[in-house]
Amino acid sequence: MPAADRYVHIVEVSPRDGLQNEKTLLPAADKIALVDRLSAAAFRTIEVTSFVSPKAVPQMADAAEVMAGITRRAGVRYAVLTPNQRGLEGALAAKADSICVFGSASESFSQKNINCSIAESLERFRPVVAAARAAGLHVRGTVSCALGCPYEGEVAPEAVVGVARELLEMGVDELSIADTIGVGTPDATSRVFDAVLALTESSRVNGHFHDTYQRALVNIDACLALGVRSFDSSAAGLGGCPFAPGATGNVATESVLEHLGARGYETHIDVDAVRQAGAWIRSRLAG
Ligand code: HMG
Ligand code: MG
Repeated sequence: MPAADRYVHIVEVSPRDGLQNEKTLLPAADKIALVDRLSAAAFRTIEVTSFVSPKAVPQMADAAEVMAGITRRAGVRYAVLTPNQRGLEGALAAKADSICVFGSASESFSQKNINCSIAESLERFRPVVAAARAAGLHVRGTVSCALGCPYEGEVAPEAVVGVARELLEMGVDELSIADTIGVGTPDATSRVFDAVLALTESSRVNGHFHDTYQRALVNIDACLALGVRSFDSSAAGLGGCPFAPGATGNVATESVLEHLGARGYETHIDVDAVRQAGAWIRSRLAG
């Protein structure tokens, strides 16, 4: 494999996706310590928190405090989720490097997750993306339920493409295509990513896989075969969405790093440091 094809960008999402569904509310100090450990493990991008309604996701209520407390390492992108203008204001005040607007390919999940239709969400995102770009931030647009919906079941690739196209048109730098509930198979994953890759180059596409049926790694392989080189994962496999019943955590970063390493890919991430961070945060959650 040519050297240029070997590098895979891993976005560590445990402080955000990993913790958002945990019932035990952790103090901000623990979240800050987790992010600092992940920075030391040499991730290039860490999803730190979400500027969302504290009623919707109580665990993320301390977003500003966490962002203010982390020690930033040079070259690391500290990313946050922003569902609306208010979220963007929080992200800008906190000096986030990257924001994420998160839409869905399924109407029911859009309603449950962000309390509006897909069309309304896209209208809401447009000024958020424009303002974030004007402020010089990197912008991600996520398409949830790309491989299935907890409420509607199957989701057509065309629905994913429709939302992805609009996100690109409004100016996102990167698309994250998400298997929110981990129901994807390698064939279905190939179909959806192939369709999305017809819209934009592979360097702008990321895969986000929950591991409910332990298919995340083979789905990542399906994406790698199509040229995708960016994936989200979560230390210790923590994760889940409060609005996606039945879904388990994100694919574990430790497993992804081993899997990629065994196949000749490089991430430049310190897997031992990730293992320690994962074990540590699990111990904090256990009380
Ligand atoms: P809404 O009720 O329609 O919005 O919620 P609203 O504007 O009427 O506001 C309701 C309340 O929230 C108000 O407070 C607002 O001030 C407050 P109240 O007057 O009732 O006290 N509020 C906010 N507070 C802080 N920051 C904000 C903010 N906006 C409003 N930005 C809204 C709409 C989008 C706000 C809400 O539904 C929400 O916050 N949803 C977030 C849901 C979420 O975070 N889900 C998990 C992340 S997505 C995910 O996990 C999927 C992903 O991992 C990919 C995958 O796996 O698929 C990314
Ligand atoms: Mg997720």
